Amino acid sequence: MNVLETVAATAPDIRDGLPERRTYADEQNPSGDRQLAADEYADELLCERLLALDTVGSYASEEREAVVEDDGPYHVACDPLDGSSNLKSNNAMGTIVGVYDEPLPAPGTSLVTSAYVLFGPITTMVAAHEETVTEYLVQDGDRTVLTEDLTLPDDPTVYGFGGRVPDWPDDFAGYAETIEQELKLRYGGAMIGDVNQVLTYGGVFAYPGLESAPDGKLRLQFEGNPVAHIVETAGGASSDGTRSLLEVEPTELHQRVPVHVGNASLIDRLEAVLS
Ligand code: F6P
Ligand code: MN
Repeated sequence: MNVLETVAATAPDIRDGLPERRTYADEQNPSGDRQLAADEYADELLCERLLALDTVGSYASEEREAVVEDDGPYHVACDPLDGSSNLKSNNAMGTIVGVYDEPLPAPGTSLVTSAYVLFGPITTMVAAHEETVTEYLVQDGDRTVLTEDLTLPDDPTVYGFGGRVPDWPDDFAGYAETIEQELKLRYGGAMIGDVNQVLTYGGVFAYPGLESAPDGKLRLQFEGNPVAHIVETAGGASSDGTRSLLEVEPTELHQRVPVHVGNASLIDRLEAVLS
């Protein structure tokens, strides 16, 4: 079994475990977010099953301080339940996986496969591997192809920007004002749900650097890099404000980074405004 098969096989277990795990655990994760029982549950399942694969040499996740070491050529970084605050309101959430061929923290250029599971009305998986993005339907833990060679539509229609508007730096706020004139707002508060809309309809998702948090909220190893890898492989672009997220030098496992992904024309405009 490989990593993507294992994640797909685990998706129904994660989904089935959600109804009774909507309460907060006592802990915070290493980035200071409050952990739900569901975050811990998904993390434990993925850690155990992915480390059991011969090819997986280490497992790291948003939910644990340190890398769990084993032997094998690939190193997996997970956000076990992205957007888990949506569990209370019963909105979309996801699972994100980045498979790196270097020990973590690693640059996005060392990603060999990136994928996310989207727990929406149906369960889907979107995976970037060997220069192509594939969308799958996940049923009973098995995948069937829905879209081969998924690419961003050329004519973008949606945008979603995180953070409170008064906390946006002036240059990003100016960019947002122009985008609001052109695209429709679609923001659901789970990055994976929001990025999946951008991949489906074209557009731009951002969780920018904020006045109160210049590196934003999202984490480079677990969120920024895998999503950038998927969007870039689908013909789009990513940026931390000045460069592709895949070119950001990692300094620590849980580092945050401003995330902007979407159609290349929209990311080019963003970089012109921010630099
Ligand atoms: O993992 C962090 C996360 O839940 C993302 O999925 C999402 O984009 C973001 O936080 C939402 O943050 P906010 O509540 O500030 O909009
Ligand atoms: Mn997340």
